[in-house]
Amino acid sequence: MSAPTHRERARARDAAGLARRRLLAGGLAAGIAATLPNASHAAAGEPLRRLAAKKGLVYGTTISATQIESDPAFVALVLQQAGLVVPENDMKWQFMNRGAPGDDNFGPADRIVAFAGANGLVLRGHNLLWYHRTPHWFFELPSRDAKERAIIAHIRALAGRYRGKIHSWDVVNEPIEPKDGRPDGLRKAVFLEALGPEYLDLAYRTARAADPQARLVVNEYDIELDAPEQDARRAALIALLQRMRAAGTPVDAVGIQGHLRAVGGPPLSVPKLRRFLAEIAAMGLEIEITELDVTDELAPAAIEARDRLVADAYRRFLDAVLDQPAVKLIVTWGLSDRYSWIVRKQTHESRWRRDGLPSRPLPFDAALRPKPAAAAIAEAFAWAPPRRPG
Ligand code: XIL
Repeated sequence: MSAPTHRERARARDAAGLARRRLLAGGLAAGIAATLPNASHAAAGEPLRRLAAKKGLVYGTTISATQIESDPAFVALVLQQAGLVVPENDMKWQFMNRGAPGDDNFGPADRIVAFAGANGLVLRGHNLLWYHRTPHWFFELPSRDAKERAIIAHIRALAGRYRGKIHSWDVVNEPIEPKDGRPDGLRKAVFLEALGPEYLDLAYRTARAADPQARLVVNEYDIELDAPEQDARRAALIALLQRMRAAGTPVDAVGIQGHLRAVGGPPLSVPKLRRFLAEIAAMGLEIEITELDVTDELAPAAIEARDRLVADAYRRFLDAVLDQPAVKLIVTWGLSDRYSWIVRKQTHESRWRRDGLPSRPLPFDAALRPKPAAAAIAEAFAWAPPRRPG
């Protein structure tokens, strides 16, 4: 049995019936009764960024240079709702690179950085190294030393270019993979195969030198799930952080991606997730929720039922993580169903619906209208215990 969440405790206190919650059918960032303490603002459509800020939290979303240039209505929604942006793809090495070492196109990333600066938005960097989005030529470099030099040059160029402007960098994305069978649980990424586990130390040290103000994050997925493989993933991540700490390698935060499923797959384990978060916090590390979304791949077709299941997944996850004071930042991997990796089928991930109906994974629909998911997020922020300022 796990201890009750902050919201459960608050609910129990209100059990006398004074603050009875009534979800309004369908509604605005609204499915919230005005009688809820703190939540009346959400009912009135108060932006997510403001509800978050009231608790000392930062809320944000992905964006792309193309969206900034071509979709003013979407950009207006981002500016209304988000206090932070992160490039969905425009800072990924493979996407920036033109096919040769050092030949990178910083244009789209520059436009996002300028957009964040002009609008006073917090900016995340995603990412410096990711096995999955590394230029092809890197794999063919002839020696260990050539690979080491290329890693250092890339991190210096990218993190150095935006020095002082990035709140937090995902330095290495997805370093863990228990299925790869190593005793330390590290992924057999090309970087690891070339340099050994110390590639992580090299990456974080190089990032710290390139941008001393940025928080340096280890970003990982499926951390919240209840399955033996994910038990191993959590244990491997904690062991990695302990090893990096002992080696004096700079690391400031853990990023929990949070790509959730409304239906299917291993369930969320609230007790395990909370224990894991407490362990990270006890190490003095911050925690960021970096890529939250909810795939509705296996949820029923009927939109009302589907949206409810998606909203419930957001609510359960956020109630669990927001109870941990080390969680200070929440990013959804998109804001509107108009732009979601789940909808666009761009990847080989099997996260889209087989019946061909458009997915509805994000807080706002494709027409930029708030869905029950927006209300669930608003409500979770309204119930979150306040963070200490700073
Ligand atoms: C995804 C993007 O959303 C897609 O547009 C792209 O085609 C592939 O990458 N984990 C991550 C993100 O860390 O970078 C991924 O983003 C989603 C999974």
